[in-house]
Amino acid sequence: MNVLVTGGAGYIGSHTCVELLNSGYGVVVIDNLCNSNPKSLDRVRELTGKELTFYEGDVRDEALLKKIFAENDIGCVIHFAGLKAVGESVSIPWKYYDNNLNSTLVLTKVMKEVGMMNIIFSSSATVYIADNEMPLKETSRTGGCTNPYGWTKYMTEQILSGIAFAEKDWSVVLLRYFNPIGAHPSGRMGEDPRGIPNNLMPYITQVAVGRREKLSVYGNDYPTHDGTGVRDYIHVVDLAKGHVAAVDYACKHKGCEVFNLGTGVGVSVLDMVNTFREVNQVELPYVIAPRRPGDIATCYADPTKSREVLGWTAQHDLADMCRDSWNWQKNNPMGYGE
Ligand code: NAD
Ligand code: UD1
Repeated sequence: MNVLVTGGAGYIGSHTCVELLNSGYGVVVIDNLCNSNPKSLDRVRELTGKELTFYEGDVRDEALLKKIFAENDIGCVIHFAGLKAVGESVSIPWKYYDNNLNSTLVLTKVMKEVGMMNIIFSSSATVYIADNEMPLKETSRTGGCTNPYGWTKYMTEQILSGIAFAEKDWSVVLLRYFNPIGAHPSGRMGEDPRGIPNNLMPYITQVAVGRREKLSVYGNDYPTHDGTGVRDYIHVVDLAKGHVAAVDYACKHKGCEVFNLGTGVGVSVLDMVNTFREVNQVELPYVIAPRRPGDIATCYADPTKSREVLGWTAQHDLADMCRDSWNWQKNNPMGYGE
């Protein structure tokens, strides 16, 4: 069976292509390369020894989508394509609503026309309201997002669950990711953010490799075990395997289901810094800085439903994540740009 992977050249998409090919699926990718490098797909081919089909283009291009469905026998779609920079979404909200919502609307319109209605969507833990009790279950309260990026995830969940409620032929799987980090253990694929990274791990690896002077730890007065923010970091290869499990599920069930993809383990910023130093034996200068606006103290998943229903559990620990992130960064100091 072939899986259409939108945004397949990106960080999570490219790792998912590897796991899909290794599991025997055919892979068709559509990506406009607005935040990725096509070299990632060459690495997918290199690592798997298998071919995939790549269309360079925009998911909002209805004619292109019709051509892709006509030329390939697609059994399921994984919809990664989207813009994800939280700060940019605050300054240019229209760009985010247009890209992230219209891509889903055009994609589902074409899927309905061709009669292939199995879709897996990249949602985020950002849809959960900040004052929920931890750990977060799929039934925890959602909404109240603090930025347009988060709203696009919330709204896309509403769009897809509404479609599945109205039309019983749909199979919709909403995957709420916690904090993906790490890289392929080969060191050949990893995260390649443009500009100054916002997220913790790419910032750490760029400090370690000498591209940035020091890490700013945003706040050490949170109500956590060491005062720094706690998150649920998940290895990108585990996340990718979660998508393979979701494809299997989507092809066997109708309706709409939501799953957390996290480890259930809360890790603080200083836990991360210390583990990264120990595992990789590198210097990692940091300073304590003020809290980052919009941040919450603690966020981690209850992954029970994914384990029981999808049969999926994260296998990698924090040391693996730190080792693989560093292995990628030190072998590719400028990401795919070198
Ligand atoms: P990424 O930017 O590396 O990958 C997204 C890919 O989509 C890129 O290759 C980009 O070029 C492509 N793209 C964007 N808009 C497109 C469009 N209109 N048409 C075609 N291609 C388009 O990001 P990622 O980290 O791999 O994230 C993948 C998905 O997971 C995104 O939807 C993101 O919002 C979601 N997500 C990511 C995280 C995270 O921390 N990385 C957390 C939660 C959810
Ligand atoms: C951020 C986004 C969130 C998005 C998620 C995954 C914000 C406010 N939230 O979440 O919407 O879904 O990324 O892409 O941007 N930290 C530092 N120094 C740094 C960077 C981060 O101390 O230079 C700390 C943060 O304060 C936080 C932790 O590290 O406690 C993780 O930060 P980050 O990787 O940005 O992820 P989130 O804040 O969980």
